Amino acid sequence: MELQGKRIVLGVTGGIAAYKAAELVRLLGRQGADVQVAMTAAATHFVTPTTFQALSGKPVFTDQWDARMPNAMAHIDLSRQADCIVVAPASADFLARVANGLADDLLTTMVLARDCPLLAAPAMNRQMWESQATRRNMAQLAADGVHLLGPASGEQACGEVGAGRMLEPEEILEEVIAFFTPKVLAGRKVLVTAGPTFEAIDPVRGITNLSSGRMGYAVARAARHAGAAVTLVSGPVGFGPPQGVDRIDVKSALEMHAAVMARAVEADIFVAVAAVADYRVANAAEHKLKKDAGGVPPIELVENPDILAEVAALKDGPFCVGFAAESRNLEEYAQAKRRRKNIPLIAGNLIQDGFGGDDNRLVLFDDNGTHPLTPAPKSVLARQLVEHIAHLTGAA
Ligand code: CTP
Repeated sequence: MELQGKRIVLGVTGGIAAYKAAELVRLLGRQGADVQVAMTAAATHFVTPTTFQALSGKPVFTDQWDARMPNAMAHIDLSRQADCIVVAPASADFLARVANGLADDLLTTMVLARDCPLLAAPAMNRQMWESQATRRNMAQLAADGVHLLGPASGEQACGEVGAGRMLEPEEILEEVIAFFTPKVLAGRKVLVTAGPTFEAIDPVRGITNLSSGRMGYAVARAARHAGAAVTLVSGPVGFGPPQGVDRIDVKSALEMHAAVMARAVEADIFVAVAAVADYRVANAAEHKLKKDAGGVPPIELVENPDILAEVAALKDGPFCVGFAAESRNLEEYAQAKRRRKNIPLIAGNLIQDGFGGDDNRLVLFDDNGTHPLTPAPKSVLARQLVEHIAHLTGAA
């Protein structure tokens, strides 16, 4: 529940993407947000207020003279306690009216009368988006401090392809969560490794491990939410990168090593979450091994470079954070790793508590001692780890 207790007014304006706003209400609600929907008259031509009422569990307002508000002050009352107003979709017409300070319906009046931030997800045809007038309005809105979410490029309802499509509901949700996250790593460059590595035996077989990549991805996501520019060097995992994170795909430890070393010097913070194979196959076969070749093929192993230790040894290198997944003696082994690799912070966990799952139990070890975190979903732990890093690096 990443939006627990947040009060959000969701404004829906007239555009075909209005149907996607229905899904956004669900997604915001599922994260614990309290959602109040307000629609423009045009929006009701695309989706009925009843839909939003059913999904938000609250009456939906479309009219500033709505008699359900005892003092005829719907525009003030509805947004009074809001933490933000999110308008999705935000039509060209709506954005033009806001850019010019017009207040000729309930939603624009609420926007003008608000004392909370405004986030808007534009949605319009490519030519409308590129028009001189919209360019002017967008510049004005940015100058006024409106947070613009998107738009995306792609296929449009009118059949054209180009910029102007509304972000998907999941993407808007992600931006809203990011918006509410304190920017404790603003301006920092963070490099993260995640996932397993795959050490080839032959073109179709290899040695790997059960790391899911979820913890590393959660750290990359939390660092980005905290305002950092994040690069994620990832071994093979079965899902896409967190929004706004630059992902570099690698397979083997050697590839991960090369990708990290090429970027480590310019990073401010390096978080090594990947479960890097300690050994690779020295005699990997160029062609598929055949059973009828005779005998059991010998697999010879050689040691892989220790990426974290190498980055930690760089002169003027980044602040380094390691992970230690242990099956027992957590404190002893994690502290030993921290000293051996000469890093200021290591996050330890017992494999049985988190490897591969959604939740985890982390203990942070640094020069000040031991900091056990309450068992929680990886997204929550990642946020706490990022806050701890910010604290140790003097960023927060
Ligand atoms: N690490 C790395 N490069 C390697 C091996 C590990 O960057 N070749 C990083 C991991 O990303 C993690 C930490 O080092 O942050 C783990 O330390 P390590 O001692 O290698 O852990 P294990 O491989 O689990 O060690 P051991 O097998 O001795 O427990």
